[in-house]
Amino acid sequence: MPFYHKLGEIPPKRHTQFKKPDGSFYYEQLFGTIGFDGMSTNSYHEQRPTQVKDIRKQYSIAPKVAKANNIQSYRFHGFKVKPEQDYLDSRKIVLTNTDCNIILAAPKESTRDYFYKNTDADELIFIHKGSGKLRTHLGNLDFKYGDYLLVPRGIIYKLDFDTEDNRLFIVESYRPIYTPKRYRNWFGQLLEHSPFCERDLRQPQELETYNESGDFLIKIKKQDEIIEMVYASHPFDVIGYDGYNYPYAFSIHDFEPITGRVHQPPPVHQTFETDAFVVCSFVPRLYDYHPLAVPAPYNHSNIDSDEVLYYVDGDFMSRNDIEAGHISLHPAGIPHGPHPGAMERSIGKVKTDELAVMVDTFKPLKVTEEAIKIADDDYFKSWLE
Ligand SMILES: [Fe+2]
Repeated sequence: MPFYHKLGEIPPKRHTQFKKPDGSFYYEQLFGTIGFDGMSTNSYHEQRPTQVKDIRKQYSIAPKVAKANNIQSYRFHGFKVKPEQDYLDSRKIVLTNTDCNIILAAPKESTRDYFYKNTDADELIFIHKGSGKLRTHLGNLDFKYGDYLLVPRGIIYKLDFDTEDNRLFIVESYRPIYTPKRYRNWFGQLLEHSPFCERDLRQPQELETYNESGDFLIKIKKQDEIIEMVYASHPFDVIGYDGYNYPYAFSIHDFEPITGRVHQPPPVHQTFETDAFVVCSFVPRLYDYHPLAVPAPYNHSNIDSDEVLYYVDGDFMSRNDIEAGHISLHPAGIPHGPHPGAMERSIGKVKTDELAVMVDTFKPLKVTEEAIKIADDDYFKSWLE
């Protein structure tokens, strides 16, 4: 998160003595990224955050690749991914490369008997269905339909769901996920032409602090494996922290669309960036208002990036036969565009209610076995008249 946040109790000066009411010490932890060059947070713990008690087991969760070199356009039926009780079991990687994993998940249960920490990757969790609370060692965030939850690598978390009906679209990124640089000034403040501003980014305001000893299981993801580590103190034992590195939420409904007289290019929808992919939000908006405007997009060539669109809600103007929960994959190397009739249908329309999340990766994506299970194999012929 590119701006400062303070929650709970912290001493007036960093790296100085900070004592509990009984005279014993709180334990400071510098939680940093990119060596000591990236964003960091200083947190103060009831107990040492280093008390590993046991390392139980280690197992692979690496995606199984079905198609490593793909040039076929696909449609995937995201809602065909079966709901599963456990959050981690429910996460199905459908597309993958060395920079990111694109994951669908339909968890039924809150994470109860363990904590989770991804040491490899930032996680961007888009809430398509469901509501609840993201609980982390740096504070909690309530979430509901349309929220992006950005969980930086290393954050220990749990997800509490209000019901069993949850659908998540997750991008797991080995590169840090930031707001677009071109929307920030040299201090990091979001500029006037940004489609969202700091007020739209929700920071944790509630901190859970437990001073408990026992056996606390953290399932830690590292290099495509889960390692089960048992700690002797409760992972949520932070009394306070300050800094720049913490989880935050942003609702897609707070994205203010940029429109024009003629069709605007995808970058106007950009919401997040990394140096390996971008994330864009397509939200309800007025269509182009030139008297001869064609609101549907023109055919375009994905020569050097794969384009993944996750359809959330509304009627997607350029596609025929697309429903909520569908994913389209338009791979690098070939052009794609509106389906037959979509361009003609769009003329004269004044607005759209479409809601979608797009991920454009700069390296090609591999199609996994989980994706093939929900794939529509004939989609690549859907432009034939
Ligand atoms: Fe496209």
